Amino acid sequence: MPSSSPSSSVNGFIGLSPRRRVQPWARAHRRGNNIVIVGAQWGDEGKGKIIDVLSAGADILVRYQGGHNAGHTVIADGAEFIFHIIPSGLLHRGKVGLIGNGVVIDPKALLEELGRLKARGIEVKRAVKISDQAHVIFPYHQQLDALEEATREGRIGTTGRGIGPCYVDKAARSGIRIADLCNPQAFAERLRTVVEEKNRLLKALYQAPPINYDALRRQYTAYGRQLAPYVVNSVQFLQEAMAQGKRLLFEGAQGTLLDIDHGTYPYVTSSNSTAGGACVGSGAPPTAIDHVIGVVKAYTTRVGEGPLPTEFPDDLMHRIRTKGKEFGATTGRPRRCGWFDAVVGRHAVWVNGCDAVAVTKLDVLDDMLEIQICIAYRDGRRLLKSVPSDTTVLARCRPVYETLPGWRQDTGRAGKVADLPAAARRYLQRIEALLGVPVCLISTGSTREQAFKVGRW
Ligand code: IMP
Repeated sequence: MPSSSPSSSVNGFIGLSPRRRVQPWARAHRRGNNIVIVGAQWGDEGKGKIIDVLSAGADILVRYQGGHNAGHTVIADGAEFIFHIIPSGLLHRGKVGLIGNGVVIDPKALLEELGRLKARGIEVKRAVKISDQAHVIFPYHQQLDALEEATREGRIGTTGRGIGPCYVDKAARSGIRIADLCNPQAFAERLRTVVEEKNRLLKALYQAPPINYDALRRQYTAYGRQLAPYVVNSVQFLQEAMAQGKRLLFEGAQGTLLDIDHGTYPYVTSSNSTAGGACVGSGAPPTAIDHVIGVVKAYTTRVGEGPLPTEFPDDLMHRIRTKGKEFGATTGRPRRCGWFDAVVGRHAVWVNGCDAVAVTKLDVLDDMLEIQICIAYRDGRRLLKSVPSDTTVLARCRPVYETLPGWRQDTGRAGKVADLPAAARRYLQRIEALLGVPVCLISTGSTREQAFKVGRW
């Protein structure tokens, strides 16, 4: 029975102890430097670039959800690098990237990515850490992803990487984690049970041929051996890092409207891509998060199926898609494009608790005569100022637009706010007013140099 007597509390620590008795991990949370960066639309907001810019001020970069469905593009020293699983701030020397427990890992894809980083001279054995609690994607997850998409009424348009089926197994407690992969005997037993179950499913539902257990075990045991040097207990790793005063930068993949809980369900991915996911997906406690920055494109894009209220008509779609190079970094699929949707942006600010937003690809709008911003939705006679949870309602909503003048000037060489044309500044101010948070960073091109911070950020 717990007692109210101070002497019987845990370690005698009753909250009145002198400072020296406060453990380093309790102090470490109050430093004010740990930032979460999240997509505030449907993914592909240009987070890779923003993370690359902001990671200069961080020590540890943490991926906390998703898998190789993501593609974060960074252009550094004239060369393009696309990160899928490894945190994208790693191109800066001396950083450490942690792949958190909330990530689902395709070992083959991860080993290939490690190989590409190594070829760029990055000492990956020192720089990359993998949580032993992260779940592993197997070929049967990808097979099921494809089969489910093919037979599902109302396709989601998944990336086909096996992400959803892997998270299904995690929730169903049939998943296999990195820790299992690194323990050959336990892995062999667990895999046998899972393969038997999957073979029953594949046969009964899809009349598909069975998985070869022995071949799969051999292949994945070898992957386990190759990944073992990178594997850590991520909770301990982060605690020790914070105790040493290291600054953390959490990299959200996908975007708020693709979050399994707060997105446009069922047209979402299978993880919590919002800022709350940073804690559960890494083991860092909520008290460790100091700031959240949402990333928005100056317009909107989405890949895959599902409603996109501000979707452009064909001619404008083609123009913006071409100018903005709006093709998926992972699948190469053309992205659907539309005007900036402030209802979506505000939803993202609310759900993530954003302190500020970074605006990317402002230059793509450089030659527009007029620019529209969606400020509300009309559903018949109803005016909606927030994103309806019923996706069928969102699909029939019509955007209510406000029209602003374009600037028809090149913004690609701007180095500070004052360099931007007045109409571009007005556009950004309107975004700030509608979202209720300041713009902290503006990107006007693909290179590292084409981005500048605003104010204290
Ligand atoms: P999944 O994550 O492959 O299951 O796909 C589910 C939905 O999320 C689909 O609409 C995908 O197009 C979308 N999606 C997944 N990853 C990304 C991303 O990195 N950027 C944009 N959309 C994504």
